Amino acid sequence: MLQEIEEEIRQCRKCPLWKTRTNAVPGEGCSDASLMLVGEAPGRKEDVEGRPFVGAAGKLLTETLKKNGVGREEIYITNVVKCRPPGNRNPREEEIEKCLPYLQRQIDVVRPIIILAMGNFASSALLKMHGFRDGKITAIRGRIFESPLHAIKIIPTFHPAACIYNRALTEYFEKDVRKALEHAGIIKPF
Ligand code: URA
Ligand code: SF4
Repeated sequence: MLQEIEEEIRQCRKCPLWKTRTNAVPGEGCSDASLMLVGEAPGRKEDVEGRPFVGAAGKLLTETLKKNGVGREEIYITNVVKCRPPGNRNPREEEIEKCLPYLQRQIDVVRPIIILAMGNFASSALLKMHGFRDGKITAIRGRIFESPLHAIKIIPTFHPAACIYNRALTEYFEKDVRKALEHAGIIKPF
């Protein structure tokens, strides 16, 4: 069950990030969502609240969904790494490796049609997990990687935090969110 996984994550001490976290951030949303959004790791606000994407990047994400008439409760939102790396540094290889089984289990339970992988870390982890070669996010964003074996499609896109830093990316991010919502059957194509 999804709640059991979430509870395990809250208690987890499998990598050193447990020592510096305030709260683990397991993820939230619809347990049978057709779309799963995956980010990198919790930031400061997420760590305090124990909820994913509630800071500035989350605001952009939530508003992009809203523009399409979609609420956060209709999808499932999580991260590759469930505890905040101190000072928002990049997650380390061994932290990703220790944490990834939780994401795999969440995918197995939710069974989304589409995963929108936001940013380099999520794209790389999810593509490798499904037998694809990883590529630069600028080159692969918006492409649909279909894994018949896993009955799942992965769409890599920019991280919403990158869009705040570089506003020119927002247009592509919005396009990719729309594409993911369409392919998940949540909204109709224009
Ligand atoms: N950035 C992420 O990658 N995930 C969050 O939950 C918040 C910001
Ligand atoms: Fe456990 Fe993942 Fe948190 Fe590390 S980051 S302590 S593996 S939940």
